[in-house]
Order: sequence, then C-alpha cells, then structure tokens
Amino acid sequence: MAKSLQTPAPELQKPGVKAPVQETLLTPRFYTTDFDAVAQLDISADEAQLRAIVDELRADYNRHHFVRDSEFQQSWDMIDGETRRAFIDFLERSCTSEFSGFLLFKELSRKLKQRNPLLAEAFNFMARDEARHAGFLNKAMADFNLSLDLGYLTKNRTYTFFPPEWIIYAVYLSEKIGYWRYIIMFRHLEKHPELKFYPLFGYFESWCQDENRHGDFFKALLRSQPQLWNNWKARLWVRFFLLSVFATHTLTVLERASFYHSIGINAYQYNIQVIEKTNETAARAFPVILNTDHPEFFRRLEECSDINLKLTTINISNSPKIVKFFQKLPLILSIIGHLLRLYFIKPIDAEVSRQAVC
Ligand SMILES: [Fe+2]
Ligand SMILES: [Fe+2]
Repeated sequence: MAKSLQTPAPELQKPGVKAPVQETLLTPRFYTTDFDAVAQLDISADEAQLRAIVDELRADYNRHHFVRDSEFQQSWDMIDGETRRAFIDFLERSCTSEFSGFLLFKELSRKLKQRNPLLAEAFNFMARDEARHAGFLNKAMADFNLSLDLGYLTKNRTYTFFPPEWIIYAVYLSEKIGYWRYIIMFRHLEKHPELKFYPLFGYFESWCQDENRHGDFFKALLRSQPQLWNNWKARLWVRFFLLSVFATHTLTVLERASFYHSIGINAYQYNIQVIEKTNETAARAFPVILNTDHPEFFRRLEECSDINLKLTTINISNSPKIVKFFQKLPLILSIIGHLLRLYFIKPIDAEVSRQAVC
C-alpha cells in the first residue's frame, strides 16, 4: 500500500486566481455531444416518468439552500499546510466538475429548446443547480484567497466529444457517484462534528439530493432508450463505463488520501463504500453491474492506484523525457493489464432484480 503524495502548492494565473490544473486523464473533463441526435431522441416510452422528474426539478427544493451563512464570516488562515493545500485541491476539482455539468446542460437546453422542449426544460433546471454548486464552491475557494476564472476555463479547456449514448451512461454514473460521495462525507461528519473544519461540509445533505434527482432524470432517459440496455453491445459499454468511473475514482481518491485523512476518513474505506453503493444503485438503470465482491476487484483497483502514484513521482522528477517514457511504459502497461482483468470479471445481471428495486 503506497502513501499518497503531498499536494503541490497552488499556482496562480494572476493574483487571487488559481491557474487551472494541467489536464490529464484524471482531471474532470468538459464534454460536448451531437445535439441534433439528442433532440431527435424518442422519449415516449418513459415520458410520464420524465415529466414527473421535471416537475420535481421545477419545484426547486434547494432554491434557498446555497446561501452563505454567518459561519463563513471569519478568517480561515488556521487551516494551513497540507490540509489547506489538499482542501483547495478538493474544492477546485469539485468546482470544475460541477461547472463542466453546468456547461453541458446549458448547451443542451439551448440547442433543444425548439425541438425537444421537455428535455430542454430538464437540462435548464439541471444547469441551474450545477451553476449554484460551482458558484458555491468557487466562493469557498475565495475564502482561501483563490478562485477559478470560470470564463477562462469555458474558453480554454479541451472539450471531449461523446455521442449521446456515452453522455447518458457517463453523466448518469457521475451524478450517482457524486450523490454517494457527498452523502457519505456528510454522514461521517455528522457523527464527528469536531472534524468538520469548514462549514461547506454541512451543506452536502440537501446538495446531494440535487445530484440524486439529476441521476434519476438520466436513469429515466436511459430506460426510455431500449437500445441502451437490451442488447449485448449495451452490456459491454455499461461494464466499460462502470469500470472507467470506478478506476478514476480509486486513483483520484487515493492520490488525495491526505484530504480525506484531514476529515478523519480512511481514503481506502471511503473509496470502497462509494463504489459499492454506486454500483448497487446502477442496477436500477443498467442491464449489468460489476461484481465488486470478487476478491480481485478492489485489490487490482488499489494496485492501479499504487502504480499511478509511481507514475506521478516519475512525472514530477527532473529526468529527461525519454528516460521518463521508458520508466513509465511498463507501469502503464501494468495498469492496462489490471483493468483488462477487471473488465473480464463476470458481471452481475441487473435486469433480473431491477424490477424489484425500482
Ligand atoms: Fe452538482
Ligand atoms: Fe448534478
């Protein structure tokens, strides 16, 4: 079991504005898609369910939730050293992924307005929520004398193209894993209030209900498209997305173990709990889920994380590029080997049990 690395001090783009982290496979991505294809989706198979969720989104239960109360009105200079660096890193990562959701949903709502008003309305409400989440996190960063220039990010980040079906799989999972990440942290700090070193954590309970509703919307959208779950190709894709999301989660959480440690959470246990809960939840939407009880499941994921930490150490070393390349190659191949072995672990059929848990 390797130790997590120290978080580097934040780099500045200009005074008070944090330079965005270098984009890697593990940093939150910005997405774009085929908007015409989304507009043409026939949602009639699950329209009643989708309408019910849009009504919930319209009710806007959290409209008064994201208000900074007096608890924020103080200096946070006492949070220092590794705790401060790791927390800023957590805030930046969370803010970027919330903002990425905002951009995608806003664009979808804009492009679908005339052609698919129900979906457009849903995306508009979800963009509203993600804008609040990102804004709230960015204000938290400002408490540490830093903020993200979201306008700069919008213009300068690379946008990854995903066809609509990948967007549906990936966003469904990211909403549900987001829900579990926030609620598990909230419940832990509710039991150990002495570890809650900053008021933001107290907001996560209602906040994560937004993510849960977003996930439910994507679940209904997915189930309205039988080709996304009733054939062998869909089963293979679902396994791919589950594994990608769980591997990324393991690598990023274990790389930032010092942040979790600062709030009294064991990063290994947290990772396992979040993945198990998300996998269980995914049985309500996906035709298959992964067998997280398999003895090799978490062992291999954690080995990938150990190798990833070695890769990070090589990346930040001063060796010439060519030396780094040959040092990294066997490690990358080893991660691919672990992921392939994980991919081929027999999955669990969710269609059989899905009706019972819906
Ligand atoms: Fe969000
Ligand atoms: Fe969300």
